[in-house]
Amino acid sequence: MSEPIRVVVTGAAGQIAYSILYMIAKGDVFGPNQPLILHLLDIPLMMGVLEGVVMELADCALPLLVSVVPTDDPAVAFKDVSAAFLVGAMPRKQGMERKDLLAANVTIFKVQGEALDKYARKDVKVLVVGNPANTNALVCSQYAPSIPKENFTAMTRLDQNRAQSQIAAKVGVPVANVSNIIIWGNHSSTQFPDASNAKVVVNGKEVPAPSAVQDDAWLRTYFVETVQKRGAAVIAARKMSSAMSAAKAACDHVRDWFQGTAPGRFVSMGVLSDGSYGTPKDVIFSFPVSISNGKWQIVQGLSVDDFAKERLAITGKELEEERSEAFAVVNA
Ligand code: NAI
Repeated sequence: MSEPIRVVVTGAAGQIAYSILYMIAKGDVFGPNQPLILHLLDIPLMMGVLEGVVMELADCALPLLVSVVPTDDPAVAFKDVSAAFLVGAMPRKQGMERKDLLAANVTIFKVQGEALDKYARKDVKVLVVGNPANTNALVCSQYAPSIPKENFTAMTRLDQNRAQSQIAAKVGVPVANVSNIIIWGNHSSTQFPDASNAKVVVNGKEVPAPSAVQDDAWLRTYFVETVQKRGAAVIAARKMSSAMSAAKAACDHVRDWFQGTAPGRFVSMGVLSDGSYGTPKDVIFSFPVSISNGKWQIVQGLSVDDFAKERLAITGKELEEERSEAFAVVNA
């Protein structure tokens, strides 16, 4: 067994954390031979609830979990961490405008960026889940100048997993037979789920997704809209937002980041844009990435037709607007 690593989860008393903590602590992310010390951050008001979560983690009797550090102090939470799951965020309250939500959240991510800069390991890998995830990740990295920009990512893996599952159901194959779906852009309703470069294994043979689906109209309309609106559909049915699937997606994202992607395979992650595929630079944009040795690279040379280009422009514009609104708040 190796030395334990420290992993922080923020929003640790919330819904997503309730699923994610178990998944991380049983080895789903860092593997079956990596012991962990879990740091759990939430706000002072939630410390009582967090105590219950700590009790349950103890009661799971998980062999990889060396210890748990519950706290409301970012200085304690971020100390020496190798991985950070930034889940905690202010939820939208009744009557709250999108701008108010953005303002409340960018302030949280500014504080957490500063704490990461001061206390975390310099090679910490940061995943932002809390919404607006892409712009929160940008703000966070801006306030952590001593940590490389490529160490800050935002989650669009839930959208990717949703898209994969839709394609599998349409073709009538197991979900594992579908790969290389792309989510472009923002984790919002402007995201563009794109199966044009995806692959599906049908009757033992890997074929391009469009020829497996055999329904271009479905791929351009129903498929795109179902993925874009899936979060709202879950809220309508459950009266609460996606939590189990969000936790699983966060684990998939960080596992692939640490352990790499298979040859010829890629996954979608919100990463700092270098302008690839004509996207705006310096926003956190979801791209197809391949990963090896803990480093992601934007996959180049994929086909992007005019239909896709239009959608990339729409989601890119939204990210530029969010960036201006966010920096107007933090620089005020
Ligand atoms: P929740 O409301 O159940 O839990 C959030 C927790 O964060 C609460 O315990 C709250 O006290 C805590 N929190 C608030 N401010 C904090 C701070 N400054 N430091 C530490 N903790 C803080 O929410 P849930 O369902 O767990 O969702 C969390 C976030 O994830 C939300 O912003 C949600 O919109 C987002 N989300 C993102 C997805 C994605 O695909 N990127 C998918 C699903 C949810």
